[in-house]
Amino acid sequence: MCGIIGYVGSRRSQDVLFAGLRRLEYRGYDSAGVAWREDGRTECVRAVGNLDSLDSALAAHAQGGGVATATAVASPSIGIGHTRWATHGSVTERNAHPHADASGHFRIVLNGIIENYRSLRERLAADLIECSSDTDAEVVAQLIALNYDGDLADAVRRSLGELTGHYAIVAMCDEEPDTLVGVRHECPLVVGIGAGEHFIASSISAFIAHTREVAVLDDDEIVVLRANELTVSDAGGLPHRPASTEVDWDDERCEKDGFETFMLKEIHEQAGAVADTLSHWRASRVVGANGGLSDELLRAVNRIVVVGCGTSYHAGLAGRLAIERWARIPVDVEVASEFRYRDPIIGPGTLVLAITQSGETADTLAAMRLARARGATVMALTNAVGSQATRDCDGVLFTRAGIEMGVAATKTFVAQVVLLYALALRLAGLTEALPEAKLAELQSELELLPERINDVVSSVDEPAQELGERLAWSPFFLYVGRLSGLPVAMEGALKLKEISYVPTDAYAAGEMKHGPIAMLGPDTPVVCVATEDSVLPKLLSNLSEARARGARVLAVASAGCEEIGDYADHVFYLPRTDPLLQVVLGIVPLQLFAYHLARARALNVDQPRNLAKTVTVE
Ligand code: AGP
Repeated sequence: MCGIIGYVGSRRSQDVLFAGLRRLEYRGYDSAGVAWREDGRTECVRAVGNLDSLDSALAAHAQGGGVATATAVASPSIGIGHTRWATHGSVTERNAHPHADASGHFRIVLNGIIENYRSLRERLAADLIECSSDTDAEVVAQLIALNYDGDLADAVRRSLGELTGHYAIVAMCDEEPDTLVGVRHECPLVVGIGAGEHFIASSISAFIAHTREVAVLDDDEIVVLRANELTVSDAGGLPHRPASTEVDWDDERCEKDGFETFMLKEIHEQAGAVADTLSHWRASRVVGANGGLSDELLRAVNRIVVVGCGTSYHAGLAGRLAIERWARIPVDVEVASEFRYRDPIIGPGTLVLAITQSGETADTLAAMRLARARGATVMALTNAVGSQATRDCDGVLFTRAGIEMGVAATKTFVAQVVLLYALALRLAGLTEALPEAKLAELQSELELLPERINDVVSSVDEPAQELGERLAWSPFFLYVGRLSGLPVAMEGALKLKEISYVPTDAYAAGEMKHGPIAMLGPDTPVVCVATEDSVLPKLLSNLSEARARGARVLAVASAGCEEIGDYADHVFYLPRTDPLLQVVLGIVPLQLFAYHLARARALNVDQPRNLAKTVTVE
């Protein structure tokens, strides 16, 4: 997810930047760099790997005649820094940030993705401006230089009009050596206000050690920072007084961006995880046909097998419905630990999709190796750049959820599901199984998911808390769903048992009468995911049966589904969209319900007992 920081003031900027990058490490990165001005020139040091590598590179730079060890601090001392998580181009020093324009006078750090960077690159090439890296960030640096006419803020503003995507940028230039300019568009960027100094970063945690006074920027506002000056103007250039607040956070809370736990923070980051994953999918579609999945290869696929464990397995179940319903290609989904010992029938023509957020799950890796040995094409779907899964496969599809600290998967799940949906729609385009108009409608509904996730998070958090607290001591929960509601029910039940230790079970609702109904009574709530209209009457009958046993019913349903209100004690309503896409929205109330219930039981939701984030043993 990258982290960016900028500083202007009287401290030694290199030190401030480096310490700030340390505080941004939790966001995940694979290279890092800093640029700063000292002794009248701009120095830039970048390194592949972690911040220790950057530290060594800075030391080497100083020994090689750089000014890294200078004791006299330039006034003001100014610089920018970045932890990069590769999106455009491989993980190399050349692609690491900060990036400069061709003259080397303009430097920027960028978090996010510039979706139209290819056409911008072509436009620059037409002006005989060649880029020296593969990144979208360098294109922005070149663009700002091209638009510069004596005022950096104006150059940034003019450049914004040409950018499509979501991003936060901090820029500096030799012509205005005391000035930083920042802007955000759907990516975080906050300003820290100190005495005779200013900070700007992706997260308050980067500068909380120096100041607690913070100004939050709105989308497309341009901020100009000098040691003793802070100016904010809107996209049209109209200046206004920025509101600032004093935050009262400790260090730990800071890493959580103000949330009480990582899990809650990550639930709130789901819209971003989905937006980034879709952006990356689109970008990689152009560059490398989505991890090497050429049309030719996909056309040769006659069967797909999905393997994964836990939450990743549930994402696979949702993906199966989409691929089968939209592309009409048969899909099997199996837990990796069973698949590897089952002597599965696979070979050329089978596409194996191995889903693993960590990329290190032993059972999933073993399943991948087995599938490759039998001649299947194996694609890894992972969130972890450089993980083992990315090496044991024929191609990689990346989710872009950012690092997930909570042991219970949340944002990685929704990112996995949307990535499978994007793949399903691509397959549907190739098989021509869907009318073009339907395909286009689903594509645009997919793009609307981030906005809708945010709507659901804000509308269901309070009722989920109220219900979680009320039902915190129930001895057992039965989760039911049908069709695409089933993986949501299964994932919701897993979340609750993982973090609250309350026994749960999840069933296809039609199976309820074949056994689990025996468990039901007044103390055993039923959680029903009723987002598929085609089976709604059947689900309502199941709920009648549950209520006849005295069970309290919580339902998740689409807006406008009035009848469910007669069968449930509480309904979480979701914005209406395609029933398959509802998986990504429907899981949100169940995550929040599990979260608040576990908190009501005073449990450590980030590190539940007996569980590890990465399961590298069988
Ligand atoms: C999810 O909340 C769990 N922590 C667990 O089920 C997890 O999904 C499973 O261990 C698979 O992990 P992976 O995605 O890293 O392979």
